[in-house]
Amino acid sequence: MKIIGFIASPRKEGNTAWIINKILEGAREQGAETQSWNFSDIKINPCSGCLCCHNSAQNRGCVVNDDMQKLYGAIEHADALVLGSPVYMGQMSAQAKIFTDRLFAQISPRFSPHFKEKNVKKKLLIVFTQGNPDSGMFQAYFDYTKNMFQLLEFDVKGVHVVTGMRNEPAHEKKDMHAIMKNIGSSFVSQ
Ligand SMILES: Cc1cc2nc3c(=O)[nH]c(=O)nc-3n(C[C@H](O)[C@H](O)[C@H](O)COP(=O)(O)O)c2cc1C
Repeated sequence: MKIIGFIASPRKEGNTAWIINKILEGAREQGAETQSWNFSDIKINPCSGCLCCHNSAQNRGCVVNDDMQKLYGAIEHADALVLGSPVYMGQMSAQAKIFTDRLFAQISPRFSPHFKEKNVKKKLLIVFTQGNPDSGMFQAYFDYTKNMFQLLEFDVKGVHVVTGMRNEPAHEKKDMHAIMKNIGSSFVSQ
């Protein structure tokens, strides 16, 4: 199984990066092949709304020429994705939102007949990290996000919210190492 992790935080070695890397480590221990993309290393521009991905007779996909093109290629060959984002103002980060918008050209069944033909949904794990210790604070937004990705034809296996980063970074939290690795290893067999 090929799993790709996306770290949608501007902090290269922040909580989200640490957590996604631990999840991927757990997945590798179960035999998965993993790859990760840290959004602090790449440049993805917002969707231009040109609808070329929809209108092009040649089905050329997205015409915005930036690092997202590499991600499209990687996603096409992946079985599963892990999207990690810090909570910013009660929502996913701007980086995660731009990435999600750009998926429109590749994932939406409306725009990718190839995807629909294969009829194989990619598995998706969504991971949020937040400063606030209250895991229920943004529950409505997390539920909405899960639903939105399901509408995009992902097989969403879970939305994990790691809380309390304000007082204690992820890598210092008790048992976090084992918990995240377990999430990664279970994801492989889900
Ligand atoms: C601009 C900004 C907005 C944030 N908004 C929230 C928020 O609404 N709720 C919350 O609990 N934490 C919030 N945080 C805290 C981050 O979600 C938290 O520190 C997260 O773990 C950062 O992830 P990172 O280390 O991967 O960047 C915010 C942080 C920043 C910088």
